[in-house]
Amino acid sequence: MSPDQVKKVGVIGCGIMGSGITEVVARSGIAVTVVEINEDALERGIGKIETSAKKAVARGKMSEEARDALLACIEPSTELEAIADVDLVVEAASEDVDVKLALFRQLDAVVRPGVILATNTSSISIVELGEVTQRPDKVVGMHFFNPPAVMKLLEIVRGLLTSEETVEFARRFGERVGKTTVLSKDRAGFIVNWLLMPYLNSAVRMLEEGFATREDIDNAVVLGLAHPMGPLALLDLIGLDTAVYISNVLYDEFKDHLYAPPTLLKRMVMAGQLGRKSGKGFYDYS
Ligand code: 3HC
Repeated sequence: MSPDQVKKVGVIGCGIMGSGITEVVARSGIAVTVVEINEDALERGIGKIETSAKKAVARGKMSEEARDALLACIEPSTELEAIADVDLVVEAASEDVDVKLALFRQLDAVVRPGVILATNTSSISIVELGEVTQRPDKVVGMHFFNPPAVMKLLEIVRGLLTSEETVEFARRFGERVGKTTVLSKDRAGFIVNWLLMPYLNSAVRMLEEGFATREDIDNAVVLGLAHPMGPLALLDLIGLDTAVYISNVLYDEFKDHLYAPPTLLKRMVMAGQLGRKSGKGFYDYS
């Protein structure tokens, strides 16, 4: 099957990234079945898609008809079996290796043998996920960026056992849904997070040491480097728990202090201050 023939995609997880990926795929007129573990999580995720689509209409990025068509493309489900007939899977469950390994075993059993299983992981090894399936050549990284509806990049990650056809399929499917792709080898952090995490962690260390204030750190980057947001605001957007998880994966791989999550970041996660999703992080969103 070519990427142009994909009629239905299965997205696993409807959190920040899963809901965004569902929205991106449905915007291209492709049917999506999105699976969550329970009705509450599913409802919250669909709510995020509706809010984002509403915002796109308000910003003049989408017509009301296109928004209705997008929402009509989405089939929510709490049963993994609902994706048995899809032509491509994009897994976007929690960034936790045990959760993903268990899911890939299940996906391999539920989804037709020739179908590609992509993962939106931002740090976990593609080959490790592929190895628990009978189709490691068909397991590939498709790493979207937050917010997926706005960010133009899609990192394609080739595991040691991923075939050339699978990489090409992922690239062309990414282009079909409007993204520009880059290709990375399978190493913790891939391209973007390998560069991003030391920068974000350095900003937290600056704050922790009292070197500069939260506002000055963020303003310096927005005004001096023309980034759309400063590092502390970006951490709130990504989620502090996700940032700690990614940092730990990078630290495990490279054993370099540069990647180690700063103490303040870990303590904030322990305190439930996860950023925008919990209403409080470096800034207050309540
Ligand atoms: N649908 C379509 N377009 C939208 C939209 C939506 N739901 N929401 C906003 N937009 C568009 C706007 O129309 C605007 O387009 P324009 O420039 O053509 O006018 C553009 O997006 C920016 O709009 P705003 O500045 O008004 O948007 P917001 O303030 O709502 O959002 C932001 C700002 C897009 C989050 C911006 O601050 C940004 O780009 N921040 C950086 C995000 C970033 O770096 N993400 C990567 C995180 S790292 C990651 O994901 C990797 C992971 O593994 C950790």
